[in-house]
Amino acid sequence: MLLRIMCFGLLLAAAVLIRVPFAAAEDACTDCHKSLREERLNRPAFKIKDDYHVARGLGCHSCHGGDQTALDNKAQAHSPAKGFLGKPKRYAIPESCGRCHSDPNFMRSFNPSIRTDQVKEYYSSVHGKKLREGDQKVAVCTSCHDVHAIRAVKDQMAWTYPTNVAETCGGCHGNAEYMKPYKIATDQLEKYKQSVHYEMLTKRADLASPTCSSCHGSHGAAPPGVDSVANVCSHCHVVTADLFAKSPHKSAFDELGMPACVTCHSNHDITQPSDAMLGGGEDTPCATCHESDSAPLKKAAELRTMIGGLSSRIDQATAILTRAEHAGMEIGSPRFELLTAQESLIKARAATHSLDMEQIKTATDAGSIVAQKSLESGQGLLAEVQFRRKGLAASMLIIVAVLVGLFLKIREVDRRGRPD
Ligand code: HEC
Ligand code: HEC
Ligand code: HEC
Ligand code: HEC
Ligand code: HEC
Ligand code: HEC
Ligand code: HEC
Ligand code: HEC
Ligand code: HEC
Repeated sequence: MLLRIMCFGLLLAAAVLIRVPFAAAEDACTDCHKSLREERLNRPAFKIKDDYHVARGLGCHSCHGGDQTALDNKAQAHSPAKGFLGKPKRYAIPESCGRCHSDPNFMRSFNPSIRTDQVKEYYSSVHGKKLREGDQKVAVCTSCHDVHAIRAVKDQMAWTYPTNVAETCGGCHGNAEYMKPYKIATDQLEKYKQSVHYEMLTKRADLASPTCSSCHGSHGAAPPGVDSVANVCSHCHVVTADLFAKSPHKSAFDELGMPACVTCHSNHDITQPSDAMLGGGEDTPCATCHESDSAPLKKAAELRTMIGGLSSRIDQATAILTRAEHAGMEIGSPRFELLTAQESLIKARAATHSLDMEQIKTATDAGSIVAQKSLESGQGLLAEVQFRRKGLAASMLIIVAVLVGLFLKIREVDRRGRPD
């Protein structure tokens, strides 16, 4: 026991001793820069504690060069002989980060699986190409990663963390004033925030749901062209994309030069689809290409009837089962059965992309039979509730009648027994 306590004490002392040099390891650069008055000069020294590079043992000199041991000696610390590089110009930032990030041997000594193609990819993007042409407004590495507080991409506070990316890109792309010299829209962020993808990502914490960089890439950020637009969505919506690829629309859209998914769903403000989209009315996607009274629009209306029918039957069954449940009936099994009908509905909605009427009808018919059965089970349960209630009411009536009779009898006996 005593030995254990002594060991523990020793460990504690060692821990304290080991910590000391760490605390003192603050280098000359950080030390002096913290003391400088000008915010531009002291901010880096205060921000750097959140920087992943520091966590990996790097420091100011790793990026800026210079002598980090030259305490209180600016001339020596900033000496070009010690490799001091100063502040990189904006156009030189990618190369400055690339000194390490494009060097596989160096980077893999820290992390064997880290990519080292960011700079190469970057120069293939619209951002990188324009920077080379002398445009200083495009994003450089530090526009998306911050500077002096560059966090690991897995860090939830990182500007590059999925839930933060939209604001990072939107900082420029949503700023009409900043983007004035360009001919592109500045509504992507605003629209994206109305999308089902944004809702899934931020409110339901579904990290599989895309943000700007999932569709555009981060380093090779470019708008996917017409050819690849379908592929962007297909990457994640595999089943839907498959159904679409087998439909007659596939070749028809190709011929028209229309992108597959975004023609009907848009790109940034993709809202929750609904059966109403199949209505064939003026504001539905089908009506943008098909004339009213055309055969395809009639088929669209037919699809809506089939799917709408199944959907409302499921709603009815659900409502009745809920009423039965509130009345105290056991509804576990019919509710479980209803799930099969819901699956059929999901299948049918997806299958609209195939335009295969037979396949869709098979799904809605199968679902409707199940929903009808659940509806009838619910009705049966409600009838039983009614029956029980009526039985209860009848027995209550009898009991009340008997009690009233008894009361009258007792009163009569009472009155008779009383002396006049
Ligand atoms: C003794 C104080 C002192 C030390 C030590 C020091 N600096 Fe500085 N640093 C300054 C001052 C003051 C400036 C403002 C510009 C100037 O006077 O050169 C500055 C400016 C800078 C700039 C901005 C240059 C520009 O072009 O705007 C960078 C980058 C920088 N220092 C990095 C470093 C690094 C890296 C180290 C360590 C290797 C370091 N400094 C050590 C005092 C110091
Ligand atoms: C991961 C690389 C990296 C590290 C580490 C780093 N810097 Fe920088 N620093 C940069 C880059 C890139 C810029 C240019 C930023 C820009 O132009 O937006 C810069 C700019 C500066 C500036 C000029 C700020 C201004 O607004 O003009 C100073 C001063 C500076 N750094 C000091 C430091 C000090 C002190 C440290 C350590 C505490 C440090 N830096 C660590 C990359 C780095
Ligand atoms: C337009 C925004 C943007 C620019 C510009 C940008 N990045 Fe990134 N970077 C991201 C995002 C977002 C991620 C998160 C992972 C992903 O989506 O690829 C990332 C991830 C990274 C990673 C983690 C490893 C990896 O590749 O996934 C490194 C390292 C990196 N970036 C370095 C750089 C360097 C160096 C530059 C400049 C040449 C740069 N980034 C320019 C947005 C950007
Ligand atoms: C002195 C070499 C060096 C320089 C210069 C440098 N980095 Fe790094 N960077 C590293 C190392 C080493 C890591 C840690 C890699 C690891 O352990 O996964 C790293 C990590 C990162 C990460 C986190 C990657 C992840 O997996 O989450 C980002 C983002 C990043 N650097 C961006 C930049 C940017 C932007 C610049 C330029 C402003 C830059 N780096 C300059 C060496 C450097
Ligand atoms: C520092 C500001 C800035 C940031 C941050 C930024 N961009 Fe850009 N981006 C620009 C500018 C400026 C252009 C050039 C616009 C042009 O030439 O039409 C551009 C061009 C683009 C283009 C090509 C548009 C076209 O059709 O020409 C895409 C796509 C793009 N950015 C996506 C992104 C994404 C995605 C992010 C975030 C991961 C991002 N950008 C972050 C400033 C920025
Ligand atoms: C679900 C995928 C997806 C997401 C998420 C997404 N985009 Fe796009 N974006 C596209 C597609 C597809 C296009 C091409 C539109 C076309 O060619 O008709 C595009 C076009 C663009 C353009 C070119 C100009 C324009 O408006 O047509 C910019 C800039 C852009 N997006 C920025 C962003 C930004 C910033 C975000 C995040 C706030 C974002 N995008 C999110 C798919 C997406
Ligand atoms: C990075 C993966 C990814 C990309 C790329 C992507 N999505 Fe999504 N999408 C999701 C996730 C995850 C959800 C939410 C879960 C679900 O309902 O499947 C979703 C939801 C949807 C929904 C709502 C579905 C529903 O039933 O609520 C539609 C419509 C949609 N996406 C269309 C598109 C279109 C069109 C594109 C291309 C412009 C696209 N998506 C690109 C992952 C992606
Ligand atoms: C981008 C234009 C476009 C949009 C939007 C569009 N279609 Fe079509 N559709 C076509 C073209 C082109 C054809 C092939 C020529 C034809 O049969 O009219 C076609 C064919 C069809 C066919 C006949 C397929 C067969 O059996 O040969 C049906 C059914 C159909 N579309 C239904 C719809 C429905 C439902 C919608 C809305 C959800 C819709 N379309 C939206 C362009 C479009
Ligand atoms: C011709 C127009 C049209 C095209 C093209 C189209 N969709 Fe749809 N999409 C619809 C309609 C209409 C609905 C709603 C069906 C319903 O709810 O009854 C829908 C629903 C969806 C849903 C939700 C239902 C489900 O299937 O889970 C997703 C996800 C979806 N579409 C993704 C895509 C993707 C990915 C592409 C490209 C491969 C695409 N859509 C192409 C019209 C279209």
